Amino acid sequence: MRTQKIYEDIKKLLKEHHQSHLLTLWDQLDMAQRQNLLAQIRQLDLAKIDDWVANCVKNSASVAISGDLVPASFYSPCPADPQQHRKYAGAVELGRELIRQGKVAAFVVAGGQGTRLGFDGPKGNFPISPVKNKTLFQIFAESVAAASLKYQAICPWYIMTSPLNHAETIEIFCSNDYYGLDEENVFIFQQGTLPNFSTDGKILLADKDRLSCSPDGHGGSLKALYRSGAIEDMKRRGVEFISYFQVDNPLINIFDPLFIGLHALDKAEMSSKAVIKNSPYEKVGNFCLADGKLTVIEYSDLPDELAEKRNPDGSLAFKLGSIAIHIINRAFVERLNTDVFSLPLHKAVKKIPYIDEHGKLVEPAEPNGVKLESFIFDAVPLASKSIILQILRSEEFAPTKNVAGIDSVETTRRMIVARAAAWLESAGLSIPKKPDGSIDCVLEIAPGFALEKDDIKAKLNRIPQIKPKDRIYLS
Ligand code: UTP
Repeated sequence: MRTQKIYEDIKKLLKEHHQSHLLTLWDQLDMAQRQNLLAQIRQLDLAKIDDWVANCVKNSASVAISGDLVPASFYSPCPADPQQHRKYAGAVELGRELIRQGKVAAFVVAGGQGTRLGFDGPKGNFPISPVKNKTLFQIFAESVAAASLKYQAICPWYIMTSPLNHAETIEIFCSNDYYGLDEENVFIFQQGTLPNFSTDGKILLADKDRLSCSPDGHGGSLKALYRSGAIEDMKRRGVEFISYFQVDNPLINIFDPLFIGLHALDKAEMSSKAVIKNSPYEKVGNFCLADGKLTVIEYSDLPDELAEKRNPDGSLAFKLGSIAIHIINRAFVERLNTDVFSLPLHKAVKKIPYIDEHGKLVEPAEPNGVKLESFIFDAVPLASKSIILQILRSEEFAPTKNVAGIDSVETTRRMIVARAAAWLESAGLSIPKKPDGSIDCVLEIAPGFALEKDDIKAKLNRIPQIKPKDRIYLS
């Protein structure tokens, strides 16, 4: 009786919002399935959905580009003058102190589907290291453990998953005994989801009694951190700074004293690392000042004349590419969540399997639907203050997106070896090279051996002479 009444109310509501098709298969459902479907529909904010359909699903929401768009200022990897030299030294000291005091937490977003990599299971479980075949999760876990040891501090680690991979991620951590970390200091939580739509704005069904949904994008982390209790947990521990990174970048320097220190010294709320773009149209967001406010503009939204614009020395005017590495203040996330806030939604047209009006599963051969996502970098303009630290790609950024080609498993492994070689060479060791100058050995440095270049010097006596074709693992 009660279900019938709810059904009638919802039917009316769905009609008003042009989503009546969700109940087309009602007569084929048993009682449990009916309740299940109604419960999901009741969770929807249909007024908001009308807005998304009108502005995002059916149309490509045009990004309002301000007339006054200028390149953002930034800190270079090395100080430019003696005054900046003193500032960097002070920042490193402060950053180290903040880590020692347990005020910095690691935060990896690992809720994505990793479709391009086509790997079965959570992307964090992908084996990537060139000698030991360690997974991404293991590399991060060892980095967290090494930082804890180095700074004699508890370095908590927060991991965001999605309903698509949460159970599997937990299982991976359990079966690997949390990679030796104390389970107490690892907090795994799920992000939210958003419904998937047909291109004409109808919510798709994944099953007769189940709406088709996708994770709400890495921008969803700002709400999920709060709703999951992660922010509360950080508060209890005295964590003030969240070191945000992506699951596919094994070169990440999670606890970087310089970045943390500059961010804290400048009293920023959300800061970013950036690389120099390797071409005007490289597929990374562009850091720009839009009417004086730091903003990340997607590569596809930056007008061509600005993308191509050059400085007198020939370098790109808009040269800073966003690489999804941030320091975010815990208090900033709290502030956002205690106000009403939402990040803009971005549309992706994809192949989305669905149940049609006859209850049949359709597996489309061509893109047929729309997924909506929010992006973390859209929170940058909401921060009262931001800094950008430019870093060297070869040191810190090797995204494993694809099986082959650009940003692939192959390029990432090559970059891991190249960085290890550069670190060893900077400590005075010689690395075998082929006649064309490329590296003629395979190298892997465990985070516990060195977290950064300068850690190598204290361990020179533990490094063997490296010969051509050697496979060397330093741990
Ligand atoms: P990507 O944009 O590379 O997406 O995510 P993806 O889903 O991992 O891969 P593709 O596009 O399907 O091949 C960048 C980072 O953001 C996380 C991912 O796990 C990755 O660390 N992410 C993405 C989330 O945590 N949640 C999301 O909803 C989307």
